[in-house]
Amino acid sequence: MENNGIIRLGDENFDFPIIEGSEGEKAIDLRTLRGKTGFIAFDEGYGNTGSCESGITFINGEQGILRHRGYPIEQLAENSNFLESAYLIMYGELPNEVSLRAFERNILSNGTLDSNMQPLFEGFPLCAHPMAILSALVSSLSTYHPEYATNNRKVDLGHFDAASAILMSKVRSIAAMTYRMKLGLPMVKSDDTKSYTEDFLSMLLSKPEIPFEDTCGAANALDLFFLLHADHEQNCSTSTVRMVASSGANLFASISAGISALWGPSHGGANMAVIEMLESIHASGDDGSRFVEAAKSGQAKLMGFGHRVYKNYDPRAKILGKSAVSVLDKIGLQDPLLDIARRLERAALEDDYFISRKLYPNVDFYSGIILKAIGIPVEFFTVMFAIGRIPGWMANWKEISENPKSRIHRPRQIYTGSNERNFVKLEKRAQ
Ligand code: SDX
Repeated sequence: MENNGIIRLGDENFDFPIIEGSEGEKAIDLRTLRGKTGFIAFDEGYGNTGSCESGITFINGEQGILRHRGYPIEQLAENSNFLESAYLIMYGELPNEVSLRAFERNILSNGTLDSNMQPLFEGFPLCAHPMAILSALVSSLSTYHPEYATNNRKVDLGHFDAASAILMSKVRSIAAMTYRMKLGLPMVKSDDTKSYTEDFLSMLLSKPEIPFEDTCGAANALDLFFLLHADHEQNCSTSTVRMVASSGANLFASISAGISALWGPSHGGANMAVIEMLESIHASGDDGSRFVEAAKSGQAKLMGFGHRVYKNYDPRAKILGKSAVSVLDKIGLQDPLLDIARRLERAALEDDYFISRKLYPNVDFYSGIILKAIGIPVEFFTVMFAIGRIPGWMANWKEISENPKSRIHRPRQIYTGSNERNFVKLEKRAQ
């Protein structure tokens, strides 16, 4: 790094190193800013701030580029599958035959939940949101596998392969068990002779005495959905995972925090909100134009549109849009919500309000249509996003935990509260 980042404050110049990434992104290294100048940087929402150096995922928002460990998302979507891409994201290289089969075996053989977890499910009210249950039970895995959750970084890293396989596998069983508990259905045990996603759909959707039968390529569509959600640089939930991991917290605790962050409607909760938006437009009989006007006037957000980083079409949305059509064709289903989504997309992409703000469909815009078509209940849409994002969260936990120079994340603030004042006894306060 050479010192040619100069910041002038008043009549004084201060030099700061410039950091350049492998794709040519540049940053001013401000780690000495306060010591040199007494100033801190202020960037609410971190839109202009790099929190870390990472080798996992690269996004170019202006050009709509997304790559995992250098491989374009379009090529992974075309040629890979969720578990192989998860291996790539977590370990940095595409696996060979031996390592892929061992990785798959390690995950598929870990689908059974500890029988002591059963009372935990029964303890939740039936109205409990599945994301609340998922976050709670993922955190509880640290109690069933304490040897992998010591909060001793070196020890926990040493068990990463085992702990990550448990998490990748059991999130499916927790999600399926949550759904079946809410419907009063008996649990379906994991069957490690099935693929990752087939086994999940079987645990989730099998009826008593009628095993789930994949007649419409649902497992392939869901596998692609998981792959497309696997990682996405320093988004809100991944940054949360890194924040928690920076304190030395174990894998399960850190991922549980990421699940909670993903729950919000501005982030992973948007896929549910898109379907609710499309269904309300469908019910109103409107062609979508009233909703576009409401979004333009600031009365509503066009859910599934816009992105902090993509100022171009989200490449995942393009792939999911095509997948939605293919799943519906296979099922022979005409979903009016897809027609409404297409109309909204066309209207928005021709409207200056959206064009001037570079608002394009994001990953959530079409994903709900696919999930709905393969029978996933809307309430579980964000849970599906979470299952897909597990490899990315774990790769980030691993990356920060392996970095000997990583420090606890502790941002500063600009204080805007009261200046110093003396305590007033109760009897002397204005009543
Ligand atoms: C995900 O970060 C990631 O990588 C996330 C993610 C991942 O894989 O992890 O990609 C997954 O979270 C996708 C985003 C899902 N959320 C939604 O679809 C919710 C709807 N979108 C918006 O809430 C919004 O676009 C955000 C939250 C996604 C981004 O918000 P920003 O970057 O803070 O943008 P902003 O609020 O500053 O908006 C800039 C302007 C504003 O208008 P003006 O003040 O300039 O007049 O654009 C407007 C906003 O009002 N705007 C929208 C809009 N999104 C932004 N107007 C209408 N509809 C929208 N969806």
